[in-house]
Amino acid sequence: MEKAKIYLGCDHGGYVLKTQLVDFLTGQGYAVEDFGCHSEDIVRYPHYAARVAKAVRSQPGARGILLCSTGIGMSIIANKYRGIRAALCSTSYQARMTASHNNSNVLCLGGRCIGIFEAQDMLHAWLTTPYEGGRHDISLGLIESAENVNFSGKDWEGEENDKNSPGLV
Ligand code: RB5
Repeated sequence: MEKAKIYLGCDHGGYVLKTQLVDFLTGQGYAVEDFGCHSEDIVRYPHYAARVAKAVRSQPGARGILLCSTGIGMSIIANKYRGIRAALCSTSYQARMTASHNNSNVLCLGGRCIGIFEAQDMLHAWLTTPYEGGRHDISLGLIESAENVNFSGKDWEGEENDKNSPGLV
C-alpha cells in the first residue's frame, strides 16, 4: 500500500500527543505536514480542523489526523466539510474497522484520552488496512447523497425502507 501524505492538526489538548505522533509517522517513512497548533497555549480547535480538512480534500489519497482533548470537537467540525469522513476512535479495532468499512480520510483522537502506545497501534491499523469496498460502497454513496442535498440547503430524508439490504442489520 502506497504511503499516504498525512496532514495533522490539534488544539492545546492534543498538542503533546500530536508531537509524539509526528515523530512516530516520520520514523515510519510518512510525509507529514503539521498545521499546528505549536504549543499548549489555549487555541480554538475549529481553525485547525478547517486547515486539515481542506488539505485532505485537495489531494487524492491524503489523510488527516486531528487531536483535541477528547477528539470530539475535532470530529464534529471535520465532518462539516464536504468529502471528509472523519472517525473518532479510541481503540485499534475501531481504527481498523473505520479504514475497511468507512474509508475514513481523517482520524480524530483524544489527546487526553489515549496514550502514545495505543495511538501508535491505532495509526498503524488505520494507515495499513485497505478499504473493503463492496457493500460498504452503498453506505458511502448514501452519505455522499446526504452531503449533496444537505449542502444545497435542504435536508436529506433517507428512505423509510432500506431497499438495499432487506432483512439485514
Ligand atoms: C478544549 O478545552 C477542549 O474543549 C477541546 O480540546 C476538545 O476536547 C473539544 O472537543
